[in-house]
Amino acid sequence: MKKLTDGTILANGTLLPCVGYGTWRTPSGEVCENGIMTALEAGYRHIDTAAAYENEESVGEGMIKSGVSRKEVFLTSKLWNTDHGADKTKKAFELSLKKLKTEYLDLYLIHWPIAYGYRDTYPKQMLESWHAMEELYKEGLIKAIGVSNFLPHHLEDLYKEAEIAPMVNQIELHLGYHQPEAVAYCKKKGIVLEAWSPLCKAKCLDHPIVQKVSAECGKTPAQVLIRWCLQKGYTPLPKSVTPSRIIENTKVFDFKLSNTQIAALDTVSGVGRLGSHPDSCMF
Ligand SMILES: NC(=O)c1ccc[n+]([C@@H]2O[C@H](COP(=O)([O-])OP(=O)(O)OC[C@H]3O[C@@H](n4cnc5c(N)ncnc54)[C@H](OP(=O)(O)O)[C@@H]3O)[C@@H](O)[C@H]2O)c1
Repeated sequence: MKKLTDGTILANGTLLPCVGYGTWRTPSGEVCENGIMTALEAGYRHIDTAAAYENEESVGEGMIKSGVSRKEVFLTSKLWNTDHGADKTKKAFELSLKKLKTEYLDLYLIHWPIAYGYRDTYPKQMLESWHAMEELYKEGLIKAIGVSNFLPHHLEDLYKEAEIAPMVNQIELHLGYHQPEAVAYCKKKGIVLEAWSPLCKAKCLDHPIVQKVSAECGKTPAQVLIRWCLQKGYTPLPKSVTPSRIIENTKVFDFKLSNTQIAALDTVSGVGRLGSHPDSCMF
């Protein structure tokens, strides 16, 4: 792997650039626009946003202001939990396109499998959303479709009804939260794994093992964590609004972690799950 624009080929032949720029908790407005512009200037060609992040307008604005052509950028957004169901999914998708000022998405994901408001009737509305996304995919408005926070049993529910299999599953993956069952299941099914919170939300950068590997490699702790994801075969989505860090997080192709270093990093504990559990989220 040589650069940010190299990537993984999804089941339908689409190229997913190997590091995405994350935007959760990036406030809309100038901060978000500047972050997007800095990221594109630094070489990122993959941006991850969601309706729920409430920054799609600024992501779109930043993309336009960057001067980088739309077709060069792999853009992901996600269907929020209040919009499950066929009609709502199509309306939510249209709104995302409008806010992002684009005519298509490269990847659209169901953000969470079990939306709080539809918990009693799961998986009905989730499956309706999936079928709506299949139609949008067939119309060419979405280049690839996938899911987020789906565990194997949610994927089983989807497979029973899906005409098109999910191409991506974006889940929480980082040192200290490895989700081995979900990873094994997705690998077996040919679903590409995207890693959210790949930097453990900056909570394990000071861990002695991370610090040791960082010193051995002459790279920063964040670069070590991103590299760990890449060598595991995951697509990390590091988030930063700090220009120096946005750039730092791209410099991950001039070193390789040894098997010993990966084994040591695999033992990092004390972080655990940082987000909600997909079966019990309260939103
Ligand atoms: N699908 C889902 O349900 C889901 C859930 C969570 C996240 N995500 C996606 O995954 C992305 C990443 O996850 P995340 O935002 O939770 O966390 P993250 O990327 O693991 O960590 C972000 C934190 O690390 C800091 N940081 C970034 N680069 C750094 C560096 N080089 N050195 C030190 N600190 C650094 C950032 O600070 P500054 O910004 O202040 O620089 C921020 O506080 C999100 O933005 C979103 O796109 C998806």
